[in-house]
Amino acid sequence: TVETRDRLRIAIQKSGRLADPARALLASCGLSWRESRDRLFCYGEALPIDLLLVRDDDIPGLIADGVCDLGVVGRNVLREQDFERRRSGTPTAFRELRPLGFGACRLALAVPDDWTWTGPTQLEGRRIATTYPALLRDWLAGEGIQADVVTLSGSVEIAPRLGQADLICDLVSSGVTLAANQLKPVATLLESEAVLAGPASEFEGERAALAEMLLRRLDGALRTRH
Ligand code: PRP
Ligand code: ZN
Ligand code: MG
Repeated sequence: TVETRDRLRIAIQKSGRLADPARALLASCGLSWRESRDRLFCYGEALPIDLLLVRDDDIPGLIADGVCDLGVVGRNVLREQDFERRRSGTPTAFRELRPLGFGACRLALAVPDDWTWTGPTQLEGRRIATTYPALLRDWLAGEGIQADVVTLSGSVEIAPRLGQADLICDLVSSGVTLAANQLKPVATLLESEAVLAGPASEFEGERAALAEMLLRRLDGALRTRH
Protein backbone atom coordinates (compact mmCIF):
# COMPACT_ATOMS: atom_id res chain seq x y z
CA THR A 1 0.00 0.00 0.00
CA VAL A 2 1.40 3.36 -0.99
CA GLU A 3 0.40 6.04 1.45
CA THR A 4 1.19 9.65 0.75
CA ARG A 5 1.95 11.44 3.94
CA ASP A 6 3.50 14.87 4.30
CA ARG A 7 4.30 14.52 7.98
CA LEU A 8 7.13 12.49 9.42
CA ARG A 9 6.31 9.85 11.99
CA ILE A 10 8.84 8.65 14.59
CA ALA A 11 8.24 5.60 16.77
CA ILE A 12 9.71 5.57 20.26
CA GLN A 13 9.34 3.31 23.26
CA LYS A 14 6.16 4.03 25.22
CA SER A 15 7.75 3.15 28.54
CA GLY A 16 11.07 1.67 29.52
CA ARG A 17 14.68 2.75 29.61
CA LEU A 18 14.79 4.44 26.21
CA ALA A 19 11.49 6.32 26.47
CA ASP A 20 12.52 9.50 28.31
CA PRO A 21 15.99 9.96 26.76
CA ALA A 22 14.51 9.44 23.28
CA ARG A 23 11.93 12.16 23.85
CA ALA A 24 14.51 14.48 25.37
CA LEU A 25 16.87 14.03 22.43
CA LEU A 26 14.12 14.75 19.90
CA ALA A 27 13.00 17.77 21.92
CA SER A 28 16.59 19.05 21.81
CA CYS A 29 16.25 18.94 18.00
CA GLY A 30 13.42 21.47 18.24
CA LEU A 31 10.49 19.06 18.15
CA SER A 32 7.50 19.58 20.40
CA TRP A 33 4.19 17.78 20.69
CA ARG A 34 0.69 18.37 21.82
CA GLU A 35 -0.20 15.53 24.19
CA SER A 36 -3.03 13.43 22.94
CA ARG A 37 -5.46 12.02 25.44
CA ASP A 38 -4.34 8.42 25.01
CA ARG A 39 -0.70 9.51 24.66
CA LEU A 40 0.05 6.88 22.03
CA PHE A 41 0.10 9.42 19.24
CA CYS A 42 1.70 12.81 19.88
CA TYR A 43 0.96 15.39 17.21
CA GLY A 44 3.99 17.53 16.31
CA GLU A 45 3.50 21.24 16.96
CA ALA A 46 6.73 23.05 16.13
CA LEU A 47 7.37 20.81 13.11
CA PRO A 48 5.27 18.32 11.13
CA ILE A 49 6.92 15.43 12.97
CA ASP A 50 4.63 13.17 15.03
CA LEU A 51 5.52 10.60 17.67
CA LEU A 52 4.06 7.15 18.00
CA LEU A 53 4.54 5.51 21.41
CA VAL A 54 4.86 1.75 21.06
CA ARG A 55 6.61 -1.35 22.37
CA ASP A 56 10.26 -1.26 21.34
CA ASP A 57 10.04 -4.70 19.72
CA ASP A 58 7.38 -3.37 17.33
CA ILE A 59 9.54 -0.50 16.04
CA PRO A 60 11.48 -2.33 13.27
CA GLY A 61 8.26 -3.83 11.91
CA LEU A 62 6.51 -0.45 11.91
CA ILE A 63 9.37 0.96 9.82
CA ALA A 64 9.39 -2.10 7.54
CA ASP A 65 5.67 -1.69 6.92
CA GLY A 66 6.00 2.04 6.29
CA VAL A 67 3.68 2.87 9.20
CA CYS A 68 6.51 4.90 10.74
CA ASP A 69 9.40 6.63 9.02
CA LEU A 70 11.97 6.53 11.81
CA GLY A 71 12.36 4.93 15.21
CA VAL A 72 14.48 5.09 18.33
CA VAL A 73 15.27 1.52 19.33
CA GLY A 74 18.06 -0.59 20.78
CA ARG A 75 20.57 -1.92 18.26
CA ASN A 76 19.92 -5.33 19.85
CA VAL A 77 16.25 -5.28 18.78
CA LEU A 78 17.04 -3.97 15.31
CA ARG A 79 19.80 -6.54 14.70
CA GLU A 80 17.74 -9.42 16.05
CA GLN A 81 14.83 -8.66 13.74
CA ASP A 82 17.16 -8.05 10.81
CA PHE A 83 18.80 -11.49 11.34
CA GLU A 84 15.38 -13.10 11.72
CA ARG A 85 14.18 -11.56 8.45
CA ARG A 86 17.31 -12.75 6.65
CA ARG A 87 16.81 -16.26 8.04
CA SER A 88 13.25 -16.39 6.76
CA GLY A 89 14.14 -14.82 3.41
CA THR A 90 12.30 -11.55 4.06
CA PRO A 91 14.05 -8.55 2.48
CA THR A 92 15.90 -6.16 4.80
CA ALA A 93 13.60 -3.19 5.27
CA PHE A 94 15.29 -1.06 7.94
CA ARG A 95 18.76 0.06 8.90
CA GLU A 96 20.67 1.87 11.62
CA LEU A 97 21.09 5.54 10.71
CA ARG A 98 22.82 6.93 13.83
CA PRO A 99 24.04 5.64 17.19
CA LEU A 100 22.46 7.90 19.83
CA GLY A 101 24.84 7.64 22.78
CA PHE A 102 22.40 6.45 25.45
CA GLY A 103 20.96 3.13 26.58
CA ALA A 104 24.34 1.41 26.47
CA CYS A 105 24.22 -2.30 27.24
CA ARG A 106 25.59 -5.53 25.87
CA LEU A 107 24.07 -8.82 24.86
CA ALA A 108 25.97 -11.38 26.87
CA LEU A 109 26.04 -15.04 27.74
CA ALA A 110 25.69 -15.52 31.48
CA VAL A 111 26.24 -18.73 33.42
CA PRO A 112 25.50 -19.74 37.01
CA ASP A 113 28.01 -18.25 39.46
CA ASP A 114 29.43 -21.64 40.34
CA TRP A 115 30.48 -22.51 36.78
CA THR A 116 34.16 -22.30 35.92
CA TRP A 117 34.14 -20.79 32.45
CA THR A 118 36.60 -22.45 30.09
CA GLY A 119 35.25 -21.16 26.76
CA PRO A 120 32.51 -21.59 24.15
CA THR A 121 33.03 -25.36 23.74
CA GLN A 122 31.54 -25.67 27.21
CA LEU A 123 28.19 -24.74 25.64
CA GLU A 124 27.95 -27.84 23.44
CA GLY A 125 24.60 -29.53 24.02
CA ARG A 126 23.51 -26.98 26.63
CA ARG A 127 20.14 -25.20 26.78
CA ILE A 128 20.38 -21.41 26.52
CA ALA A 129 17.39 -19.18 27.35
CA THR A 130 17.14 -15.89 25.46
CA THR A 131 14.91 -13.21 23.96
CA TYR A 132 17.42 -12.93 21.08
CA PRO A 133 17.35 -16.34 19.33
CA ALA A 134 18.55 -15.10 15.94
CA LEU A 135 21.59 -13.25 17.35
CA LEU A 136 22.39 -16.20 19.60
CA ARG A 137 22.08 -18.78 16.79
CA ASP A 138 24.31 -16.68 14.57
CA TRP A 139 26.98 -16.49 17.28
CA LEU A 140 26.74 -20.20 18.08
CA ALA A 141 27.10 -21.05 14.39
CA GLY A 142 30.20 -18.84 14.21
CA GLU A 143 31.70 -20.72 17.16
CA GLY A 144 30.70 -24.08 15.68
CA ILE A 145 28.63 -24.95 18.74
CA GLN A 146 25.41 -26.99 18.76
CA ALA A 147 23.18 -25.91 21.62
CA ASP A 148 19.44 -25.74 22.33
CA VAL A 149 18.04 -22.23 22.12
CA VAL A 150 15.06 -21.72 24.44
CA THR A 151 13.20 -18.57 23.39
CA LEU A 152 11.48 -16.62 26.17
CA SER A 153 9.85 -13.20 25.90
CA GLY A 154 11.04 -11.98 29.31
CA SER A 155 12.36 -12.86 32.78
CA VAL A 156 15.11 -14.82 31.09
CA GLU A 157 17.34 -14.57 34.19
CA ILE A 158 15.12 -16.92 36.16
CA ALA A 159 15.26 -19.76 33.59
CA PRO A 160 18.33 -21.54 35.02
CA ARG A 161 16.85 -21.62 38.51
CA LEU A 162 13.59 -23.01 37.11
CA GLY A 163 15.47 -25.73 35.26
CA GLN A 164 14.31 -24.40 31.87
CA ALA A 165 17.85 -23.73 30.71
CA ASP A 166 21.48 -24.18 31.79
CA LEU A 167 22.50 -20.62 31.04
CA ILE A 168 21.12 -17.44 29.45
CA CYS A 169 21.87 -14.88 26.78
CA ASP A 170 20.42 -11.49 27.74
CA LEU A 171 21.13 -7.78 27.94
CA VAL A 172 23.43 -6.57 30.67
CA SER A 173 23.56 -2.94 31.65
CA SER A 174 24.56 -2.39 35.29
CA GLY A 175 24.82 -6.14 35.94
CA VAL A 176 22.47 -5.91 38.92
CA THR A 177 19.88 -8.30 37.45
CA LEU A 178 22.47 -11.00 36.72
CA ALA A 179 24.00 -10.71 40.18
CA ALA A 180 20.57 -10.89 41.83
CA ASN A 181 19.98 -14.16 40.01
CA GLN A 182 23.38 -15.73 40.81
CA LEU A 183 24.58 -15.45 37.22
CA LYS A 184 27.81 -14.04 35.78
CA PRO A 185 28.57 -12.75 32.27
CA VAL A 186 31.17 -14.76 30.35
CA ALA A 187 31.01 -13.61 26.71
CA THR A 188 29.71 -10.58 24.81
CA LEU A 189 27.74 -11.16 21.59
CA LEU A 190 26.83 -7.55 20.80
CA GLU A 191 27.59 -4.07 22.13
CA SER A 192 24.34 -2.14 22.00
CA GLU A 193 22.89 1.32 22.57
CA ALA A 194 19.88 3.28 21.37
CA VAL A 195 20.00 4.03 17.66
CA LEU A 196 17.95 5.98 15.16
CA ALA A 197 16.51 3.46 12.72
CA GLY A 198 15.08 4.22 9.32
CA PRO A 199 13.98 2.42 6.17
CA ALA A 200 16.51 0.64 3.94
CA SER A 201 15.27 2.76 1.03
CA GLU A 202 15.40 6.55 0.66
CA PHE A 203 12.53 8.82 1.69
CA GLU A 204 10.56 10.61 -0.97
CA GLY A 205 8.81 13.96 -1.23
CA GLU A 206 8.20 16.16 1.80
CA ARG A 207 9.40 13.50 4.16
CA ALA A 208 12.85 13.35 2.54
CA ALA A 209 13.43 17.03 3.32
CA LEU A 210 12.07 16.66 6.85
CA ALA A 211 14.20 13.61 7.57
CA GLU A 212 17.29 15.36 6.24
CA MET A 213 16.64 18.38 8.47
CA LEU A 214 16.06 16.18 11.49
CA LEU A 215 19.29 14.25 10.91
CA ARG A 216 21.21 17.51 10.59
CA ARG A 217 19.80 18.77 13.89
CA LEU A 218 20.39 15.41 15.51
CA ASP A 219 24.03 15.40 14.48
CA GLY A 220 24.39 18.88 15.97
CA ALA A 221 22.72 17.81 19.21
CA LEU A 222 24.87 14.67 19.46
CA ARG A 223 28.06 16.67 18.86
CA THR A 224 27.38 19.08 21.71
CA ARG A 225 26.65 16.16 24.04
CA HIS A 226 30.03 14.50 23.60
C1 PRP B 1 16.91 -5.62 30.59
C2 PRP B 1 17.51 -6.99 30.42
C3 PRP B 1 17.87 -7.40 31.82
C4 PRP B 1 18.12 -6.07 32.52
C5 PRP B 1 19.59 -5.86 32.70
O1 PRP B 1 15.57 -5.77 30.90
O2 PRP B 1 16.60 -7.89 29.83
O3 PRP B 1 16.79 -8.06 32.42
O4 PRP B 1 17.61 -5.04 31.68
O5 PRP B 1 19.88 -4.62 33.30
P1 PRP B 1 20.88 -4.49 34.50
O6 PRP B 1 22.16 -5.17 34.07
O7 PRP B 1 21.08 -3.02 34.69
O8 PRP B 1 20.29 -5.15 35.68
P2 PRP B 1 14.61 -4.51 31.00
O9 PRP B 1 14.54 -4.04 32.39
O10 PRP B 1 15.03 -3.49 29.99
O11 PRP B 1 13.20 -5.07 30.64
P3 PRP B 1 12.73 -6.22 29.63
O12 PRP B 1 13.58 -7.42 29.88
O13 PRP B 1 11.32 -6.44 30.03
O14 PRP B 1 12.86 -5.66 28.24
ZN1 ZN C 1 11.32 -4.90 25.01
MG1 MG D 1 14.88 -8.10 31.31
